[in-house]
Amino acid sequence: MRHPIVAGNWKMHGSRVENARLVEELLAGCPATPAAACVVCPPFVYLQELARLLRDSAFSLGGQDVCADAQGAFTGEVSAAMLKDVGCEYVIVGHSERRLLYRESDQLIARKFAAAHARGLIPILCVGEQLADREAGRTREVVARQLEVVLELCGASALGQGVVAYEPVWAIGTGRNATPEQAQEVQAFIRARIAARDARIAAATRILYGGSVKAGNAAELFAMPDVDGGLIGGASLKADEFLAILATARPG
Ligand code: 13P
Repeated sequence: MRHPIVAGNWKMHGSRVENARLVEELLAGCPATPAAACVVCPPFVYLQELARLLRDSAFSLGGQDVCADAQGAFTGEVSAAMLKDVGCEYVIVGHSERRLLYRESDQLIARKFAAAHARGLIPILCVGEQLADREAGRTREVVARQLEVVLELCGASALGQGVVAYEPVWAIGTGRNATPEQAQEVQAFIRARIAARDARIAAATRILYGGSVKAGNAAELFAMPDVDGGLIGGASLKADEFLAILATARPG
């Protein structure tokens, strides 16, 4: 039995006023014991304020990125220890926007995963192919490569203590989600790759789907056997949408 996770990646959105309103609506509408772990990942500068607003609630806090190094002369970076210090439990690593817009390599992302895990954060490792990869039949090859670099550096046990999020790049922010069957196919493949190292860990690892998840498609995506919740972008900025998505999550 895997406890699902519904995480909101706010990306570079929000303001103090907007965040306070969103949190108020989320807390008002969230059941006392939701069926999934609920996580919000705001921009770094709002983490501390969000930690205060979410104290004693069902919501956990996550960062959107983390530095691979522990401390020192890394201008602009934020360490895993700092994220812990302000109340984060989770952190997203290897989001496709980091991979594509900021040229983050598989190796750097694996080091970020290791840094987060070493500090007791739960890393959410994003993997996923671009449209050209899918059209060329390279989806499995791309996802396997992204996964294997982390498995090599950190091991199956560390990966299993984290979370994997399958986010096909062509489905992010496009309104075009993967079909439940497409998500299931790749997510079963991801689980099989982990199982090749350790079947018990693979069976317990949470694998989320992300990419245009909305209230209207969440239930059918989350009903798939290898989809253990979602990483939600745009729809996580609207309380009613996010709460409706959360309401569809079921332990699997
Ligand atoms: P959308 O839900 O807006 O497609 O974004 C998905 C995503 O990138 C979450 O990390």
